[in-house]
Amino acid sequence: MKQKIQQIKEQFNEEISKISDLVKLAELEIRYLGRKAGELTQILRGLKTVPADQKKEIGQLANQLKQEMVEKIETAKKVIKGQAISSDWLDVTLPGVQWPQGHLHLVTQAISEITEIFEHVGFVRRRYPEVEWDFYAFESLNMPPDHPARDEWETFFIDPKPVGPKGQRVLTPHTSSGQVREMERKHLPIRMINISKCYRRQIDVSHAPMFHQFEGLLIDKDVTIAHLKGTLDYFAKQFFGPDRKARIRPFHFQFTEPSFEVDVSCGLCGGKGCKMCKAGWLELGGAGMVHPNVLKAGGIDPKKYSGFAFGWGVERTYMMKAGLSIPDIRMLYQSDLRFLNQF
Ligand code: DAH
Repeated sequence: MKQKIQQIKEQFNEEISKISDLVKLAELEIRYLGRKAGELTQILRGLKTVPADQKKEIGQLANQLKQEMVEKIETAKKVIKGQAISSDWLDVTLPGVQWPQGHLHLVTQAISEITEIFEHVGFVRRRYPEVEWDFYAFESLNMPPDHPARDEWETFFIDPKPVGPKGQRVLTPHTSSGQVREMERKHLPIRMINISKCYRRQIDVSHAPMFHQFEGLLIDKDVTIAHLKGTLDYFAKQFFGPDRKARIRPFHFQFTEPSFEVDVSCGLCGGKGCKMCKAGWLELGGAGMVHPNVLKAGGIDPKKYSGFAFGWGVERTYMMKAGLSIPDIRMLYQSDLRFLNQF
C-alpha cells in the first residue's frame, strides 16, 4: 500500500507539471481526488481493510498526499490564471516597475534659472517678507501716504490703519519692497536679486492674485544707464537665447529717475512684427536708476552712490520664453498634470 501511495504521488507530480490549462487541471483533479473513482480517494476508502498495525502510518501518508495535491492544484490554478504570487520566487530578468517621475514646477525651474544667470555676474539671491510694512512697499520708495501712484499696486491690506512707525502691514505687491531692506543691511556695494511671492487684487488670463517677481538692485559708485542696459542685454541672451536683444523705453516710476519699460525682441518673428508681439518687441517689465530719495530712505548718500533696479514677473517672463504654449497664467497654479507634464 505504501508503494502504491508513492507511485500515485510521483505520477501526479509529473502530470501536474505539464498542465497549462484549467480544463486539463480539472480532469486531473477528478482523476486523483474525484469522489467516486479518484485514485487517491480509493486508497483512502480502502484504509478500512488495512491491517491495524499499519493503519496509522498509511492513513497519515495518504492524507498528507491528499493535502499536498489540493495545495498544488490550487497553486497551479493561480499560475494558469496569471495570478501567481510567490513570496520565494523572483524572476530577476523581468523589467522593473517604472514609477512615474515628477519634475520641479515650472515656476521653480524658472526661479533657479534666473538665479543662476544673475549669480554668474555677481548678484546674490535674497528673499524678503511677503507680509510687509507699508514703509518698505511704498513710503521708502518715494510714495508717501495717499500718493496716487500707489493705486497701481492693487494692494491687499492686513491692517486697516497704521499700527506703528512703519505703517500698516500689507501683502507685498512687488519685490521692490526688498530694496530699502537690502540697503539697511549696510553692505555696500549691493548686487541683489530678490525673488519672492507677490500679491495683488487682480485676476485674468495674464494676472494671478499670487505671483512671483524678481528684482535686481545694484548700488555702487559711478553706476550708469550703460551698466543697466548691459545687464538687461546679458539677461535677454542668457534666458531667451543668443539672438535676442533688450531695449529700454522712457516710462515713469516714483522710485526710479529716469525710469524705463524694458522690452525683449520677439523670438517668434525675430523682431519683424507678428501677432504675438508689438512691432517685434515683447514687454518684460520696469527698470530705472534708483531715485535719490530711495537711497536716502536706505541710509545711502546719493552724492556718493548711484544704482539701477529692475523688477519683472517670473511667470510672465517664463511665459514669454514658452511662447504660445501657456495661454493663461492661471494654468500654472491649477495643478493639472495633463498641462504640467508637457514641460
Ligand atoms: N516694482 C515694479 C512693479 O511691480 C516694477 C519695477 C519698476 C521694479 C522699476 C523696479 C524698477 O526695480 O526700477 O510694477
